[in-house]
Amino acid sequence: MTITVIGSGKVGASAALNCGLRELDDILLLDIVQGLPQGEAMDINHQLSERGSDSVVRGSNNYEDMRGSDFVVLVAGVGRKPGMTRMDLLKTNAGIVQDVASKIATYAKDAFVVVVTNPLDPMTYLALKTVGAKKSKVFGMGGMLDLSRFKSFIQQATNVSRESIQAMVISEHGENMLPLTRFSSIAGIPLHDFISKEVAADIFEKTRKVAAEVIALKGATVYAPGNAVATMVESVLKDKKLVIPVSTLLEGEYGISDVCMGVPAVIGSGGVEKIIELKLDSFEQEIFSKGVASVREAIKALPL
Ligand code: 2OP
Repeated sequence: MTITVIGSGKVGASAALNCGLRELDDILLLDIVQGLPQGEAMDINHQLSERGSDSVVRGSNNYEDMRGSDFVVLVAGVGRKPGMTRMDLLKTNAGIVQDVASKIATYAKDAFVVVVTNPLDPMTYLALKTVGAKKSKVFGMGGMLDLSRFKSFIQQATNVSRESIQAMVISEHGENMLPLTRFSSIAGIPLHDFISKEVAADIFEKTRKVAAEVIALKGATVYAPGNAVATMVESVLKDKKLVIPVSTLLEGEYGISDVCMGVPAVIGSGGVEKIIELKLDSFEQEIFSKGVASVREAIKALPL
């Protein structure tokens, strides 16, 4: 059994490290850049050795090495630069994702695939169509990352343990992200009992914008995405059935078809086992619909 991570830049390496720290499986880091995956593998193995994790990381430049992998994390592509939106990456990354997904179809067509490359929702759609797998097996990591930021702002506003925070972020992993304060709680007690409307609106806006701030300050987001990937991989490999946001193909849910969007789902050994439909209010519905329109537009421009 192996988890293959395609793309060994900072996010790919962080995903490998986080999977290794959780001892999920052995890990293959792939990249076209000679030496990079091998060097990352060595560095990560050194950390894992000291931590006593028996997940072994290997680096390779040969896609064929992913043969037989149970899990593929698709991180290959260009990241956002300061001032760019995720959608600005569409043309460049579509070619890369299509190429890599066709290699997954050749060498690991039965694997689960978690897509990380931006713009996340259109790239998840492209990977799903190119790999040709069941929709439950190819899904995208965007909402989990947005959730980590939302939780961080909720903690700052409430000053309770991060462990007591339950929250949800859906819609496009992009300009129409939808942090759901109405579906968030502190240990089951509605979040709105703890914070004013103004503070809720502030957290909502900050969650939508903070990735751009991190990118402006340090050039990339790294640790939170790596952890978010590992949470999704773990939920499948251990059949945990976590209820978390993932980008998945909608086929009638939320009244939408043929678009990958971030929605809450049960993630277990079957991959996306169940999509959970929320009753959105008019404000939430408006943003969700804008997200759908934006992703649909991007999908039209894909080389499919
Ligand atoms: C993030 O949200 C850039 O999509 C990436 O960190």
